Amino acid sequence: MIITIDGPAAAGKGTLAGTLSRKYNLAYFDTGMVYRAVGLEMVLTRQDVTDENSAERVAKDLTFQKMHMLAENRDFRSDVGGKAASVVSAHPKVRKALLKMQQDFSLNPTFADGTPAAGAIYDGRDTGTVVCPQADVKFFVTASPEVRAMRRFKEFQQKGIETTYEKVLADMKARDERDSQRAAAPLKPAPDAVILDTSALSIEEVIKKAEEIISQKQKSLEK
Ligand code: DC
Repeated sequence: MIITIDGPAAAGKGTLAGTLSRKYNLAYFDTGMVYRAVGLEMVLTRQDVTDENSAERVAKDLTFQKMHMLAENRDFRSDVGGKAASVVSAHPKVRKALLKMQQDFSLNPTFADGTPAAGAIYDGRDTGTVVCPQADVKFFVTASPEVRAMRRFKEFQQKGIETTYEKVLADMKARDERDSQRAAAPLKPAPDAVILDTSALSIEEVIKKAEEIISQKQKSLEK
């Protein structure tokens, strides 16, 4: 089984994907990591993230091992990493260079320790539209910018990253704008995606809804 979960930043995709991956024994690919890795590598090596050709070179050299190493850096998840990721992800050549790595993951899905999985679960912006259009179940998880900014602000506070709610909200809106207006793979739901608005739902309610949809799908696949 392949599941995709797309949607804007801090909508609850990661929590949902992590829970479903454990429940259904699916290997999890957080695809934002590939763009964060390229963006951060460029920041650390003092390259210009707006230069598409330089970004493409970095993207072509990316491996899972390198990505996991970069993920250890504290700026990987900070707004520095997020902003760099958002800029490099708008380059069509970067998206193209990173596509195979993402698609290959579902051909032979395995957990980090090498154990085979029953399938794959992706989270990102275009996993149901571009990376895995053949996925069995697709979700588009969303919430209002204010709700998402408050969630992200609390995460930053817990990690001791200094910022303000107003700054996080302004960054979130700017990122939404870039992600949805860019020419290459703009953020939008796949026509066959189920939309889950998490603004007024608890995480337990979102998980319950998603599980109901997955069991309906499993029943229809068994027929
Ligand atoms: O989900 P995230 O915040 O880690 O994503 C970082 C950036 O990468 C975000 O600005 C959008 C981009 N991204 C993308 O363009 N396509 C994906 N499949 C995943 C992330």
